[in-house]
Amino acid sequence: MTVQTAESVDASAESGQDLKFQLIDKALKKFQYQQDALIEVLHSAQETFGHLDEDVLDYVSRQLQLPPSWVYGVATFYNFFSLDPQGDHVCVVCMGTACYVKGAGEIVSALEEEFSVKSGATTEDGKLTVHSARCLGNCSLAPMLTLDSEVLGHETPATTIAAIKAKAILTADQEETK
Ligand code: FES
Repeated sequence: MTVQTAESVDASAESGQDLKFQLIDKALKKFQYQQDALIEVLHSAQETFGHLDEDVLDYVSRQLQLPPSWVYGVATFYNFFSLDPQGDHVCVVCMGTACYVKGAGEIVSALEEEFSVKSGATTEDGKLTVHSARCLGNCSLAPMLTLDSEVLGHETPATTIAAIKAKAILTADQEETK
């Protein structure tokens, strides 16, 4: 007869978590569990899960033997990490000085109005998340933004809305042909 100790229950729960987090484990192994690799590991976790929830942050903190408050602090400090689930499409509008003076604020306002979503949130249908960020490092393209993995420069409210709508239409067409 197998006696279930508190430790063995913990271990089996842990192995379930291990299964769920096996892709993070790959990143942890790749960086040899070095604490310096926290950002890279969080990137990998976000790629895997789309966002960083409490379980993921806790798991990473235990594996790297870093205080949870430290891991949480890093995850909330950087704009490219999100603690909430993201929409199918993610638009990040740069609000750094160069972009702001060229109209980034108007772009954010237009997106908020057109898609009924506040910056930092996701539309009710889960299709679009809008974020604003500090300088994204492409000031010569001001005002610029990223839409999923694309960089769009010299944007206006109208071109940004059109780009987002084109993505949504493309996605719908692709789904119809499946
Ligand atoms: S201020 Fe927007 S890219 Fe630098």
